[in-house]
Amino acid sequence: MDLVTIIAEIAAHMGTRDHRGRVANYIPELAKVDPARFGIAVVTVDGRMITAGDADEPFSIQSISKVFALTLALGKVGDQLWDRVGREPSGNAFNSITQLEHEQGIPRNPFINAGAIVVADVNLGGHQPRVAIGEMLRFVRYLAGDDAIAINEAVAASETATGHRNMALAHYMRAFGNVRHPVDLVLGSYFHQCAIEMSCRQLALAGRYLMLDGRHPDGGRVVSPRRARRINALMLTCGHYDASGDFAFRVGIPGKSGVGGGILAIVPGVAAVAVWSPGLNDNGNSYLGTLALEELARRTGWSVF
Ligand code: DON
Repeated sequence: MDLVTIIAEIAAHMGTRDHRGRVANYIPELAKVDPARFGIAVVTVDGRMITAGDADEPFSIQSISKVFALTLALGKVGDQLWDRVGREPSGNAFNSITQLEHEQGIPRNPFINAGAIVVADVNLGGHQPRVAIGEMLRFVRYLAGDDAIAINEAVAASETATGHRNMALAHYMRAFGNVRHPVDLVLGSYFHQCAIEMSCRQLALAGRYLMLDGRHPDGGRVVSPRRARRINALMLTCGHYDASGDFAFRVGIPGKSGVGGGILAIVPGVAAVAVWSPGLNDNGNSYLGTLALEELARRTGWSVF
């Protein structure tokens, strides 16, 4: 299999597409991003890195940060996390509030916004947001082996100014006692985590521990093999919100999307893949990113099924 040719052809193919989805505009700063961009990076289990297109252009990782936040929270509280967050697909939009009323303020999973806010509450502990944000930044820099990874403050400020749905979710869960720290501190941390910028190359590198059964390529252990498998399972079942079934059907590997247009996808034991194209489909997932992964899976045979 000639992976270099496959990746180059996918990038070329995506460049010719007229329909590219719509860039997220509910976070005003994200609406400024050029929908013509497309990047892809694949890092294989033997350490090969193959990139094409805008693979070195940093973008807002947004909800992809929820994977790293979940990993940190499980490291802090272990399986107790599951008393406060479920493990089922929600079948609703990523920012939906409706299920919380009948489910005692316990979000369906850690990847919808409500679940990620509870995870951010866990990661905040009793600290100031800058402590939790610093920890998160150190973690992704370590995973990617790249200290240049940073937060885009303008994106964080933009979401802080307009994130009323997340404020509603956080206050609602606080009323149930499932958010335990002041809402402005929890969201301060959450919005900054979402505003981390990474390129496809950096994101694929950061995802390696999930293809390597929880190991960092430097030999260190990030999480246990069991935990890595479980995070991958949640990415497969919940990583694309109410389009998770469609993603599993079309692509067939664990994936986590973000409204910045990125997707991190893991082929356990084989490769970590990052794609980026800012235009989104109706579910808030990258339109061309999904298409590119579908083509990659078809041409490589990569699938967990
Ligand atoms: O909380 C939000 O709405 C954004 N910071 C993240 C949402 C997101 O990335 C959804 N994913 N596709």
